[in-house]
Amino acid sequence: MRALVVYESLWGNTEQVARAIAARLAVHADVEVLDSDAAPLSVDGYDLLVAGGPTHAFSMTRAATRADAVKSHSAPHEPGRGIREWLNQLERPSTEVPAVVFDTRVDKPRLPGSAAKAAKHELRSLGFDTSVKQRTFRVHGYEGPLLDGELDRATEWAVDILARLGIGS
Ligand SMILES: Cc1cc2nc3c(=O)[nH]c(=O)nc-3n(C[C@H](O)[C@H](O)[C@H](O)COP(=O)(O)O)c2cc1C
Repeated sequence: MRALVVYESLWGNTEQVARAIAARLAVHADVEVLDSDAAPLSVDGYDLLVAGGPTHAFSMTRAATRADAVKSHSAPHEPGRGIREWLNQLERPSTEVPAVVFDTRVDKPRLPGSAAKAAKHELRSLGFDTSVKQRTFRVHGYEGPLLDGELDRATEWAVDILARLGIGS
């Protein structure tokens, strides 16, 4: 079993969630964790894709929201290619590979919009199996940190994902 975990992260919160998921998946799988700038454009050879990014302006980031994060909010890292652009370049999988998505968002549960839902829509259109429900992980403010317990939730979610795929339960 080979899994690919792709993340986008400006302050590092989404990366922490991605790495917590990957660490738990790695108990049962060969796992590669890559940021969206370095991610491959084909998932051939992988049995599972996990992808996550921050929610910006109610959806996946765009070049303009990333630039604004750096300019107006002092984000320490500006991805050149976010999850949105990576998905635009990603090839259709040759089999219906499971793809599971997550996002990070501010701790305002009534604020609408989710990068994960938008990413899931793209992955479904590309022919991935998106039957595992997406998750949101919450951060304080724009820069984080993650709320207490979110990394534990990420680890537990990885166990659920494996169980859904019939692996390691
Ligand atoms: C320009 C910009 C727009 C944002 N828009 C939203 C939003 O619409 N909804 C939301 O919940 N969080 C929003 N956020 C907060 C981000 O989701 C938060 O910065 C992110 O989860 C932090 O993850 P990271 O450390 O991996 O970058 C926005 C942040 C920035 C910089």
